[in-house]
Amino acid sequence: MNDCWGRTIDYLRISVTDRCNLRCVYCMPENGVVSLAHKDILTYEEIMRIVKVCAGLGIKKVKLTGGEPLVRKDLARLVSWLKAQEGIESVTLTTNGILLKSQLKELVSAGLDGVNISLDTLDPNAYKRITRQGDLETALAGLNAALSYAESLTVKVNCVPLGNDPDNLSAMAGLSKSLPVHVRFIEMMPMGLGQNFAFTGEDEILGILEKAYGKAQAFNEPLGNGPCHYYSFPGFCGKVGFISAMSHKFCSRCNRVRLSADGFLKTCLQYDSGCDLKALIRSDCDDPDLARAIIRAIDHKPKDHHFGQDSSDMKPANADKDETLSMFQIGG
Ligand code: GTP
Ligand code: 5AD
Ligand code: SF4
Repeated sequence: MNDCWGRTIDYLRISVTDRCNLRCVYCMPENGVVSLAHKDILTYEEIMRIVKVCAGLGIKKVKLTGGEPLVRKDLARLVSWLKAQEGIESVTLTTNGILLKSQLKELVSAGLDGVNISLDTLDPNAYKRITRQGDLETALAGLNAALSYAESLTVKVNCVPLGNDPDNLSAMAGLSKSLPVHVRFIEMMPMGLGQNFAFTGEDEILGILEKAYGKAQAFNEPLGNGPCHYYSFPGFCGKVGFISAMSHKFCSRCNRVRLSADGFLKTCLQYDSGCDLKALIRSDCDDPDLARAIIRAIDHKPKDHHFGQDSSDMKPANADKDETLSMFQIGG
């Protein structure tokens, strides 16, 4: 399925919950989080109905996100249904890893193809500070559990650095020196609470890593569904990647749309553009109606984000509104 800018859309990110068992400072407020009501969250059956129609339109890859997806009951059941859906070639998960160790066996049996673990530091005190309530040892146990399935599971670490401490950045990248894991540095995007933090840019991080580990060589093959580009360092097991929405904008290659936990098909991270699929499927619409609504929404997918620029300069009066939701409500 193509959008009106000629981009092929084959990747659906599905948020299964807006709840999370951590409170990362750039993502969730410490207190007073109002969660979606149970009745407003799509059931797994409803998600599958949407996925079936999307697969018929060319979606091939699915990512499960949250909030924290593993706080939703019986996620492995959804994974096995997704894997059985004709047209869906890969099902992967982005998680903070806290509940991974206890659920991984079931998820792998259900056919999960990959797991991305959010881990911004290897310093236990800093980890506690950033996540407000997380225990680094537990997250690392999740990472180690994932690595024990490295033959069948692609394992990646997502690091959104807070600051540019060379020791922290080198330690994070160093995980992929000795372990079969790809470590990706993500530039903080100014969405929700992310607006309170500066991003640490790719060029600066790469400079620091080259000092520690030698010359990086661009690795020009994709290692997943998303916008990350990778480098090889001499002697490293895994790659080091960058998701640089701020310094190396990648919207022209965008291949994805998002389904929120309450059933909104969101066509760009930065705008509220899209279509309320929950309202449709809870009315008496049939699958062709649903397909038409999805095609229309994707056809109107915004061209690009304008992070870091004054929105009033950038947009005509009738353009889509900037997103007011936070990352935990969108799923990253
Ligand atoms: P892979 O399949 O491993 O490539 O996963 P991914 O990178 O697509 O997914 P993940 O959930 O690990 O997301 C990593 C980061 O990429 C998160 O911070 C997302 O917000 C960010 N990201 C994913 N898609 C987009 C996008 O369309 N635009 C922007 N600006 N950021 C995105
Ligand atoms: N900018 C960039 N990445 C973010 N994430 C959460 N908030 C932001 C933000 N403002 C990341 C998480 C997780 C992924 C799903 O999104 O750290 O790795
Ligand atoms: Fe939870 Fe992820 Fe947000 Fe941290 S970044 S609070 S782990 S949803």
